[in-house]
Amino acid sequence: MRGKFITLEGIEGSGKTTQLEFVTEYIKKAGKELVCTREPGGTLVGEKIRDILLDHQLPSMHSDTELMLMFAARVEHIRQVIEPALSEGKWVVCDRFYDATYAYQGYGRDISLQRIDELKEFSIGSLIPDRTFLLDVSLDISMQRVTERGNKDRFENEKIDFYTKVREGYLEIAKQNSARVCLVNAEQAIEDVQAEIQLSLDQML
Ligand code: TMP
Repeated sequence: MRGKFITLEGIEGSGKTTQLEFVTEYIKKAGKELVCTREPGGTLVGEKIRDILLDHQLPSMHSDTELMLMFAARVEHIRQVIEPALSEGKWVVCDRFYDATYAYQGYGRDISLQRIDELKEFSIGSLIPDRTFLLDVSLDISMQRVTERGNKDRFENEKIDFYTKVREGYLEIAKQNSARVCLVNAEQAIEDVQAEIQLSLDQML
């Protein structure tokens, strides 16, 4: 039987890393074989592309270049990691996937959503996550956590206006894909966030 494909999304500082660990452990405990991976990245080529995309010394990259690099890394990732694992019946948990492209490059960088649709169709066809957890936090919390962490990457150096658009984009995506996207208020206590995620995972397991 084909495995399930789960993605986690959210703006910087939404607690994605903590919840990714929770999701991974919970699925493993349920006895499923699992692959945990991330975008951009997840393959040797993809990780090199990630280095370029996040390099804060390259601030002037054209938004179309950024868009196509995201998809280039994704093509490798799907062909080498995601599809083979799902076909073998493994579950795949991925830190970000194409919703991030709509939120960051579409809503954030103002690239037309239709153009992203076309690139998505060309490069990944019909692969859709079975469940996406969107961890939502306010801009204040997000900016505060990013500042506390220090060492900002190319995206983290963006201004609040950019992140306002990205967050609105994510919320719009959640609204339009309510059967797939589980919108979680990530400003609650960690246990409450996990309880919501667990409920949704239990339906899948
Ligand atoms: P992260 O893995 O630490 O969240 O960092 C990845 C960064 O890349 C994050 O700022 C979001 C950004 N990104 C996009 O802009 N578009 C995409 O399609 C993906 C996957 C990530």
